[in-house]
Amino acid sequence: MGFMVLNKIAKADTMTNRKIEISTQSAAETIALGRRIGEALKGGEVIALIGNLGTGKTHLIKGIAHGLGVEQDDLVTSPTFVLVNEYFAWGGGMQVYHIDAYRLESAAEFEALGVEEYSRPDSVVLVEWADRVWESMASLNPLTIRLFHGGGDVRTITLENAPSGIA
Ligand SMILES: Nc1ncnc2c1ncn2[C@@H]1O[C@H](COP(=O)(O)OP(=O)(O)OP(=O)(O)O)[C@@H](O)[C@H]1O
Ligand SMILES: [Mg+2]
Repeated sequence: MGFMVLNKIAKADTMTNRKIEISTQSAAETIALGRRIGEALKGGEVIALIGNLGTGKTHLIKGIAHGLGVEQDDLVTSPTFVLVNEYFAWGGGMQVYHIDAYRLESAAEFEALGVEEYSRPDSVVLVEWADRVWESMASLNPLTIRLFHGGGDVRTITLENAPSGIA
């Protein structure tokens, strides 16, 4: 796990300890929030998404990928049958990994995907259902995004270790 330790040090400047809470009223607003998050990323971030079924994790990721400049044609459908989706952004200079931990049985299975190697200064790693593999993620001090159902189309979204420039 030496890799993990190095990652932790490299990411020190992304641990902002800033907590933000935002409500969105529609799927489009959640995508727009994601876009602002994507635009604020610098590379090297690990992003944990935690929230029940249908809270909008995949919509938010679509926005984040858009904000990072991932080609819209490549864009994210839920990787439920592919454990890891890969995209390129910044004209190929940035790699985006989208992992869905929903069907993983254990943190060990998550680590077996090679997740430590995905986390680099020129990548962004997005993990849906991160709570299922939290043991492997906590030491990475991820930007942690929690999504909650409000009534109807309302979603409350909290960001821990939020980058500046979002809200
Ligand atoms: N404010 C909102 N933000 C996001 N999605 C919303 C909102 N209001 C309604 N929706 C609807 O909720 C659903 C969210 O779907 P999405 O696939 O993004 O959720 P998810 O958290 O990824 O679910 P899963 O756990 O199944 O992967 C969509 O059908 C979307 O249209
Ligand atoms: Mg999803």
